[in-house]
Amino acid sequence: MQAHQNAIEVEIAARTVTGGRNVAFDLVAVDGGDLPPWTAGSHIELRWTADGQEYIRQYSLCGESFSGPRWRITVLREKKSRGGSAFLCDRAEVGMRLQVRGPRNNFPFVPDQRVTLIGAGIGITPILPMAFEAEAQGCDWRLIYLVCERQDVSLRETLNKLPQERVFYRYAAETGRMNLEEWASTLGAGDSVFACGPLRLLDDLVAIHEARPAWKLHLERFENPNKTVGEAEAFDLVLARSGKQFRVEPGETILEVLRRDGMNLEWSCCDGVCGTCEQVVLEGVPDHRDAVLSPEERQANSHMMICVSRALTPSLTLDL
Ligand code: FES
Repeated sequence: MQAHQNAIEVEIAARTVTGGRNVAFDLVAVDGGDLPPWTAGSHIELRWTADGQEYIRQYSLCGESFSGPRWRITVLREKKSRGGSAFLCDRAEVGMRLQVRGPRNNFPFVPDQRVTLIGAGIGITPILPMAFEAEAQGCDWRLIYLVCERQDVSLRETLNKLPQERVFYRYAAETGRMNLEEWASTLGAGDSVFACGPLRLLDDLVAIHEARPAWKLHLERFENPNKTVGEAEAFDLVLARSGKQFRVEPGETILEVLRRDGMNLEWSCCDGVCGTCEQVVLEGVPDHRDAVLSPEERQANSHMMICVSRALTPSLTLDL
């Protein structure tokens, strides 16, 4: 995974309402230069302050150009917004300045003989650049965009730049939910599926894949279903480099304990979805509760997200 770069100051260069409740923002560097290049599946972290409150949010980059002076993000105006998406969609105007860190990619595109890209709702945002990447790499690819109604389609202008014979729209209000079981029965070795969308869709895909794992499944989750799974026991935490030791109680996280001690650590979502707080594990077995690591990475037990993950062993040693 990529390390975070220093914060960049950007400003909103364009604001476009796009499908449903979504708003697309084009961001440019305040100094007028090019923004860092990125790869399909990347996200950035936005920070801003409004009404005395600091907001930190992560958004996928969803443009079709992977370098240059402009980034695009698209924000869903969430019904149960904690304030961030509501502010951006309702009050953020052209010219507003924000701090950005990244890009960072926890969901990289990996070419295969056949590639299926599934974006549901706002989940189209990391998926759309993958279609451009798959086309550029000469893959045999298709994009399935799942929305409720026709008017919910976002980023139509960008979608129209893709070969239309490879883009399939599914409108649940007209045809019902896609029959994933039936569709997945056609997949085999040489197929890779990249998907982003609501928990139910991703959980269904995981279940289908577990039953027939010949093909490869890559997911990007905006929500973390693992955060509160199981009991939260207290454990000892050892920092190998500093020699410091802590007790992590059931109601607190490793990140909270270390920040309270004054450690200057990278963190962002505090929800186990962005990958920013990842640390190397030297001893002990983590209780992985994030939505970033793959099953293989979890089994390796060499890295963990300290904002949510805990310990299965009485003690855990980190490379800090
Ligand atoms: S801060 Fe985002 S995964 Fe830990």
